[in-house]
Amino acid sequence: MNFKELAQQTESYIIERRRYYHRHPELSEAEYETTKAIIADLKEMGLEPVTYEGMCGCVADIVGGKPGKTVALRADIDALPICEETGLDFAATNGAMHACGHDSHISMLLGAAKMLCRVKDELKGTVRLIFQPAEETGFGAPAMIKAGVLDGVDAIYGSHIWGDFDAPYVSVESGNRMASAAMFDVTVEGVSAHGSAPNLGVDAIVAASAMIMSLQTYVSRNNNPLNPLVLTIGTIKGGSRWNVIANKVQFDGTVRTFSKDLLEGAPRAMKRILESTAAAYGAKVTFDFKWLTVPVINDNEELNAIARNAVVKLYGEEGLGHLDTMMGGEDFSFFMQKVPGVFGFIGSRNPEKGLIYTNHHEKYTVDEDVLKRGAAVYAQFAYDFLEK
Ligand code: NI
Repeated sequence: MNFKELAQQTESYIIERRRYYHRHPELSEAEYETTKAIIADLKEMGLEPVTYEGMCGCVADIVGGKPGKTVALRADIDALPICEETGLDFAATNGAMHACGHDSHISMLLGAAKMLCRVKDELKGTVRLIFQPAEETGFGAPAMIKAGVLDGVDAIYGSHIWGDFDAPYVSVESGNRMASAAMFDVTVEGVSAHGSAPNLGVDAIVAASAMIMSLQTYVSRNNNPLNPLVLTIGTIKGGSRWNVIANKVQFDGTVRTFSKDLLEGAPRAMKRILESTAAAYGAKVTFDFKWLTVPVINDNEELNAIARNAVVKLYGEEGLGHLDTMMGGEDFSFFMQKVPGVFGFIGSRNPEKGLIYTNHHEKYTVDEDVLKRGAAVYAQFAYDFLEK
């Protein structure tokens, strides 16, 4: 099956759809019009997409002409609350932006669907197309899994277009790819007093400062230095006036790791540090901690090989690129927790075309020449998995 040729023939459709979705971004958990448009695009191909109660997004099956397994392909569809500054003539103007490139994901998967529909009679099994909402909030993948989108699925492939990775390469490397991401929130309560009489109060600002410094030592002094771990405090708010001892400070942040042990270990250690520091200063502390994603680790060698060979078949060894492991998170990991999966990256950076900005930047946009490659890899992976 020559998906390279089919992708070439489908390229103008993919780019046209990418521009449409780029122009009409919607935020996580509110992808209503996006879902309607995807449903219309899929129906045009003769598919019968289904939706699920309480969430946006949709799923459609391409049932092959021959019996076999079921392979899922996933694209996330949500945008970010960023005011676009790309200057593109199809730039969004509604205060949201496809700054993470999920518009490309939608169009690449639609392109793959179009190609797979054309060779449907030869497919040995079913290809399930998953258009997932709310990746940025970590809501989408768990909600879709709960709704049953993985029922009967034998394997899943997903990919992300990436601004820090050169076009037109594709990375389907094995091992650690993206970290698990947690969000935490800390409230420190003290006792107000006149700023001139700290002895009469409990200073929540000083207690919170000590907590923040001690939390950093969790990474530098408790964690194995060979184990990547990030602990970042993102915001801090506290106090009411320059001459008042603050009675409340609230701060929040994120933790990133690949270690499955730290899924329990990190919040436990942080709680210990926070509570003992609060006790030392006579303050009270409350701590909320939640893992938004688990790590993305390509640890299924059979699927790694299918994905890698798919790229090589399409674009040769020279089509493969290297992208370092990163501490960013991705809720595709929840699919991989349930069924064997593999996650790839599509390079979108091209300095010659001025495409130097990274995902989540207000000027991020992609080298559209790579979209056909991303679509072809989706299709080739699905086809080859079903052949095996
Ligand atoms: Ni993303």
